[in-house]
Amino acid sequence: MERPKVYVTRRLFPEVLQRLAQECSVQAWDSDLPVPRTILLQEARDCDGLLTLITERIDAELMDACPRLRVVSNMAVGYDNIDIPEATRRGILVGNTPRVLTKTTADFAWALLMAAARLVVQGDRDVRAGKWRTWEPLGWLGQDVHGATLGIVGLGQIGLEMAKRATGFEMRVLYYDTVRRPPEEEARYHLQFVPTLETLLPQADFLTLHTPLTPQTYHLIGAPQLRLMKRTAILINTSRGKVVDQKALYEALRDGLIWAAALDVTEEEPIPPDDPLLTLPNCIITPHIASASFATRRAMANLAVDNLLAGLKGLPMPACVNPEARHPSKG
Ligand code: DGY
Repeated sequence: MERPKVYVTRRLFPEVLQRLAQECSVQAWDSDLPVPRTILLQEARDCDGLLTLITERIDAELMDACPRLRVVSNMAVGYDNIDIPEATRRGILVGNTPRVLTKTTADFAWALLMAAARLVVQGDRDVRAGKWRTWEPLGWLGQDVHGATLGIVGLGQIGLEMAKRATGFEMRVLYYDTVRRPPEEEARYHLQFVPTLETLLPQADFLTLHTPLTPQTYHLIGAPQLRLMKRTAILINTSRGKVVDQKALYEALRDGLIWAAALDVTEEEPIPPDDPLLTLPNCIITPHIASASFATRRAMANLAVDNLLAGLKGLPMPACVNPEARHPSKG
């Protein structure tokens, strides 16, 4: 029987690719930079499966160009780069990589929270710039983390891990979520549900975002929301850049409407070097690395391969975003 043909859009761990190659005919874009769109369209045209990253736009144009496509396996928990309704309509299964990155991502969001609160990045920058003159009673003052109020937007798996970390810091934890309200976790971690974002914002010392990017969450945090926050508040975003109106955030940080921000994601990635946010000392920006530990990235790649192989064999995928695609409704 002919082996399924798959295209992998980036250089990955060789041993993980070998697992795929044992069962499929594999072509891969062997670079650390994204595959150009024209090459992707060309390479994918006779493929049964694709292993993609968040940098690839998987839309109707691409699906039109790939009539044999049956499975798209995204090596990420988020899948806003993929037109899911279009894939489902065409019977194309889409996989993602939840669970394996949950704790690693929360660890990093916590690191950003701590770094922004206690000026870790600014302190290091100042030491290197020769600005450490003495022990200064009034120098490099930050915000306390212990005992503060943490506001979580989106109590999915990662949001819940943030809540767990907060208990060790004796924080009060509030959360806002339009879908989930788990009574067991609420009781176990002393979480307080707030019914609207507007009631959460004025109370949070730290606001951490853990929501997918959807039409409803686009610019969820914009000028009106930033105006409701405390002047001492810190915003942490490890979800998607477009959940925050970056221009409004720049103005809020510049004008002292909030105290600091720490972003692992930006509206455009990479952030353009002339973006005004990069001029602000009270904004930490990292290059979308919250899931980037050796073990977790390997686990994500393995799960992406598992999803792809299962989908191609017609078996249940370990993590499928649109299982209904197996029986797409007509029309
Ligand atoms: C995801 O998985 O969606 C991240 O943004 C990449 O780790």
